[in-house]
Amino acid sequence: MMTEEYLHALLLNMTIEEKIGQLTQYNANVFLDSSADITGPRMQLGLTDEDLSRVGSVLNFSSVAEMKKMQDMHMENDPHRIPVVFMMDVIHGYRTIYPIPLALGCSFDAELAETCSRMAGKEAAASGVQVTFAPMVDYVRDPRWGRVMETCGEEPRLTGALAAAQIRGFQGSDLTYAENVAACVKHFAGYGGAEAGRDYNAVECSERALREFYLPAYKACIDAGAQMLMPSFNSLNGIPSVANPWLMKQVLKEEWDFDGVVISDYNAVGELLVHGVAADEKEAAKLAFDNGCDIEMCSSAYIHHLKELLEEGFFTQEQLDQAVMRVLRFKNRLGLFEDPYHGADQEKADCLYLCEKHREIAKRAAAESAVLLKNDGILPLQENLARVAVIGPFAREHGILGSWSCNGRDEETVTVADGMAALLKTGQVIVAEGCSNHWDDTDTSGFEEAIAAAKSSDAVILCLGEPQDYSGEGNCRTDIRLPGMQMELARRVIAANPKTVAVLFNGRPLDLSELDAVAPAILEMWFPGTEGGNAAAELIFGRANPCGKLAMTFPRSVGQCPIYYNHPNTGRPHWTRAAEHCGYTSDYIDCATLPLYSFGHGLSYANFVYVGMTLSDHQLSAEGSIRVSVRVRNESPVGGKETVQLYMRDPVASVVRPVQQLIGFRKVAFAPWEEKEIEFTLTEPMLRFWNFDMKHVSEPGEIQLMIGCADHFVLTDEIIMK
Ligand code: BGC
Repeated sequence: MMTEEYLHALLLNMTIEEKIGQLTQYNANVFLDSSADITGPRMQLGLTDEDLSRVGSVLNFSSVAEMKKMQDMHMENDPHRIPVVFMMDVIHGYRTIYPIPLALGCSFDAELAETCSRMAGKEAAASGVQVTFAPMVDYVRDPRWGRVMETCGEEPRLTGALAAAQIRGFQGSDLTYAENVAACVKHFAGYGGAEAGRDYNAVECSERALREFYLPAYKACIDAGAQMLMPSFNSLNGIPSVANPWLMKQVLKEEWDFDGVVISDYNAVGELLVHGVAADEKEAAKLAFDNGCDIEMCSSAYIHHLKELLEEGFFTQEQLDQAVMRVLRFKNRLGLFEDPYHGADQEKADCLYLCEKHREIAKRAAAESAVLLKNDGILPLQENLARVAVIGPFAREHGILGSWSCNGRDEETVTVADGMAALLKTGQVIVAEGCSNHWDDTDTSGFEEAIAAAKSSDAVILCLGEPQDYSGEGNCRTDIRLPGMQMELARRVIAANPKTVAVLFNGRPLDLSELDAVAPAILEMWFPGTEGGNAAAELIFGRANPCGKLAMTFPRSVGQCPIYYNHPNTGRPHWTRAAEHCGYTSDYIDCATLPLYSFGHGLSYANFVYVGMTLSDHQLSAEGSIRVSVRVRNESPVGGKETVQLYMRDPVASVVRPVQQLIGFRKVAFAPWEEKEIEFTLTEPMLRFWNFDMKHVSEPGEIQLMIGCADHFVLTDEIIMK
């Protein structure tokens, strides 16, 4: 690496225009565009060849050769030989695709998340990527929002733990190492709180809720060493994040001391005009830069106006130099001054893509992220069945990678039909689609074939869900039921053959009330990635034992949204699961209050019995700790994993507290009939909350402890906080 003196010497010799170039990022197509093309992206952005020759970072490119070509062009022309840095959204895989982040959230397994990120980073780095725009850690409560698939769900602690693990996976311990990529945590902050679940929508949220639920995961990423941070598109309490001084200056810089690089989201500086907080591009540049946004992504406010703003005294030379130094230091940490390609090597990349090891990890991750929502006892199936029908629009659907699947290719995924055929020993697999999964498709002409297939088979695997492009950025829904004629197909198929297992592919919690009423078993696969079909088949036949737990609540109907397990208590709580309306309690007259499947729910083929909980003490002092031991026994002949979840409730506090909060979880493997003791350590900071004066405190009094999942506690005890 270069020394700090070297970087300072570089800075000293740079012109203002060169400095501003370091603070700008464009898509590769802008560089590769011919400047003669007056309708091309370069002209639209108002960029000259000179502007472009100074730009310090590039978003998205197609191959190592293209990346090297751009880097070479740049290095030849740059008098300071400051390399360009190449960035991309490597979210859940580069070419080998792992389950979507929401699925990984359900694995409750930080080590697994770290492994998936490491493998994804390795493929990406060999392909020329130096920075990934991940992890995305937005806290969510509303399944209508399409981007819930990119998150780890509705639990701040869980999200923080998995995100920190992803950062370790991407970044490793040394960023100069050719297999590591730098991580950019996003989107700071509150993006997941988009009103009505509509993307890019305004977010109004109290500081207490922000600090308690939304901010901790970003902080966990910074503590884990995230090199970059991206502010969110949305306005937060009236001010778009990239121009929000409370968020960017007070919280990020002053309280958290973040000294990495801040990059705007795509055109977010330009959108300050559209939000209506900047009258023109110049004001947008001023607002974003002044609030600590170092790099502007894909709009041109900085290139056009930063110099002028500096000359007019809107900010100081020192401010500009500090931003540029952050970028130079960052490039140096990546070792780009020595190796501007960062070890990119297409041959190596080609060997890594879809290699056996990565496929194996992708399969394990898909299996560990799947959640068995319901099982009336028909699962697992025997492998010696004579005939199995695989029915539904996802039976031979290759599009199961999910949104943000980078360079993953649908045609390289394993479908359920293929996965089933590979495992069914002597029997026959027959496939019938039955109908499509599009919301406006009413065609039922495939039903007859599907019903005949169901009738003539020993078991049915009914593969349903939403197309991959129904979730992800900009893909929000007001109706979160199974789209199109799928529910009608399900009813008819289940009537034709009651031994039917519903297997689901989707990027958000769906309203499964109708399916739950008729299907004897439901296996939630989410978008499982490249190895999805193999993982599904292994789970169906019991070669793998389901162990995922929901990281996000499944509502009974879209009308319950937003819905989440850790909601504040009310003065008129409604505690029963019963559908009946209780009168003047916090409930609905036409729907039960509790969700269909709660956070933390997930079944296994093993039978885990919670024997008892013991506490080392019942009084907790500020400096002390309590050991919570939970005995769990696997009362079954099959091995499996159980995620033991520890919740707390603070029944009396100076501000209203959540009805329950997860404060610890451990995913543990059990052999058949094995009994284990699982330990948690309880300390005072775990009980803290933001009081009336916005101080992070715990208060004396009783604390209830619960073991189980959010709507079903099997063990309880209490302690006194002294
Ligand atoms: C998304 C970001 C992403 C960026 C660059 C934006 O539209 O909101 O999550 O990192 O594009 O691709």
